[in-house]
Amino acid sequence: MAAIDRTDPVIMGHLLAQHRELHDLLVEARGAFESPPREAELARGRLERLREHLARHFAQEEEGGFLEESLVRMPRLAAAARDVVAEHPVLLADLDRLLERLAARDIESDSWRQAGHDFEAFASRLLAHERNENAVVQDGYNEDLGLGD
Ligand SMILES: [Fe+2]
Ligand SMILES: [Fe+2]
Repeated sequence: MAAIDRTDPVIMGHLLAQHRELHDLLVEARGAFESPPREAELARGRLERLREHLARHFAQEEEGGFLEESLVRMPRLAAAARDVVAEHPVLLADLDRLLERLAARDIESDSWRQAGHDFEAFASRLLAHERNENAVVQDGYNEDLGLGD
């Protein structure tokens, strides 16, 4: 049972801290879309920062084994954990498409508005992803403590 004592509180805290940071970057990026189209450069810079952070965060989740441990210890959570990990490349691809769209010079106001909508859709998907992830880890944690169903 050593693995359980070693990982859960630390992993949970780390995960939640990273999710908070991601949330801050999302809010910052959203702010850029509230400006006129000439600020596309600003939006792109913020999205690039978000992309970097996200890629690192996903890699840590995949390598760090927090979901992996849920799989080993709580087979009941396997499908949910696999589902969240499968979303990682999809979310990064969404963000890449958005960055490509913003790469155009002299972006027109229609495309700018569209990019803003796409960003909002992306942000909702990302937040839903993180919520599901928290739930998987929290479920595993509760089960370890005998709080699970
Ligand atoms: Fe994730
Ligand atoms: Fe995450």
